[in-house]
Amino acid sequence: MEIRKKRLIITIDGPAGSGKSTTARRVAEQLGYLYLDSGALYRAVTLAALRRGADFGNPDELASIARECEIGLVFASTGLKVYLQGEEVSEEIRLPEVAGAIGPVAANPGVRQALLSQQRRLGENGGIVAEGRDMGSVVFPEAEVKVFLVASIEERARRRRMELAAKGIEVDLEELIRTIAKRDRDDSGREISPLCKPEDALELDTTSLTIAEQVEWIVRAARQRGAGA
Ligand code: DC
Repeated sequence: MEIRKKRLIITIDGPAGSGKSTTARRVAEQLGYLYLDSGALYRAVTLAALRRGADFGNPDELASIARECEIGLVFASTGLKVYLQGEEVSEEIRLPEVAGAIGPVAANPGVRQALLSQQRRLGENGGIVAEGRDMGSVVFPEAEVKVFLVASIEERARRRRMELAAKGIEVDLEELIRTIAKRDRDDSGREISPLCKPEDALELDTTSLTIAEQVEWIVRAARQRGAGA
């Protein structure tokens, strides 16, 4: 019997520093799928709001910025390129000022609604690896493979410190642990689309895994469910 290969929707959710981005990008590369970094969309809206001098205490203003701003994601061999109103902002959206201001943007129902249709459009033909906080629970509840990554907070902080050190930025580990713990509380505690493990998700603890092992584990799970290019 011939087993038909399918182009699946694969979701990878998890807290900050659990290895989602690198893992999702590599799984997408191996399967020849599209890679959706949903955090980049929230970051781009936050940057748009900062540039316009928006009032972050005004939910309507943030929601209308999300509806109006034009975000482009381009998948290049060098990585994901993010555009805002046609200007490349891939580096700028990673600045700490943007991450620090993202809370009210990510917690805003109007913003989330505006980004929802954009994300669903990207996945309408399957063949996508979508990474974020609510990919399996809200954006793609019908996904064939849902993965929830976890890792100890100490390990996640160590990873962030190594990433920053590679860019020449030295940070204190304890300070990083505090920052990540706050992001965990913000992500899991918000009312709308909180970070949570969907009931039908496969949990993978990455604390003592390498990226290659994580990627292999997810690709294997996807192949078992018939994934093909
Ligand atoms: O994955 P990241 O660190 O780039 O995400 C940035 C922020 O965006 C994160 O603090 C929470 C928010 N986010 C979200 O609310 N929902 C998603 N699907 C992805 C990210």
